[in-house]
Amino acid sequence: MKKVKTESSYYLFDNLNELQKEEQLVMQKAIDMLQNVYAPYSNFFVGAAAMTNSGKIYGGCNQENASYPLCVCGERVALFNAGANEPTTPIKLLAIVCHNPNKRVEKPVSPCGACRQVISEFEMRHDQSFPILLKGDTETIVKLESGSELLPFSFDGTYL
Ligand code: THU
Repeated sequence: MKKVKTESSYYLFDNLNELQKEEQLVMQKAIDMLQNVYAPYSNFFVGAAAMTNSGKIYGGCNQENASYPLCVCGERVALFNAGANEPTTPIKLLAIVCHNPNKRVEKPVSPCGACRQVISEFEMRHDQSFPILLKGDTETIVKLESGSELLPFSFDGTYL
């Protein structure tokens, strides 16, 4: 028997200005997407943006439904938007931001497990990992170098 250890790490930035220009653009698009959220049930806002290798940025935001399990997270909408428009182009960068009008979110948003799995598949699909930027209601930004920092030991198509 042997114990196998996995590690994950992230970078912390004090504010948007500390990011590279391209990262700022993608994060700004995610922030702008908060305006389009449809979240009448949770009243929890998530905006996201995915830049592809072509340099185009695709936005997304959470889309809720009275049949609760049908709600789709903002980051998945952004990734699927990119995938639907540029099916063969890898993702270069993903930004996700959340806002709670009823309770200030003091820490950067943490993507749900389902979204981590979808991020992982986008990396596998195009054989290219990508950094992920996370923000809440404060100025602090977390940067992860790739999806595997969020979801080590992930399930993927090689099992099938
Ligand atoms: N949500 C996201 O959009 N992304 C996440 O990573 C976590 C949760 C959405 C889903 C739902 O519309 C609302 O936030 C509350 O769970």
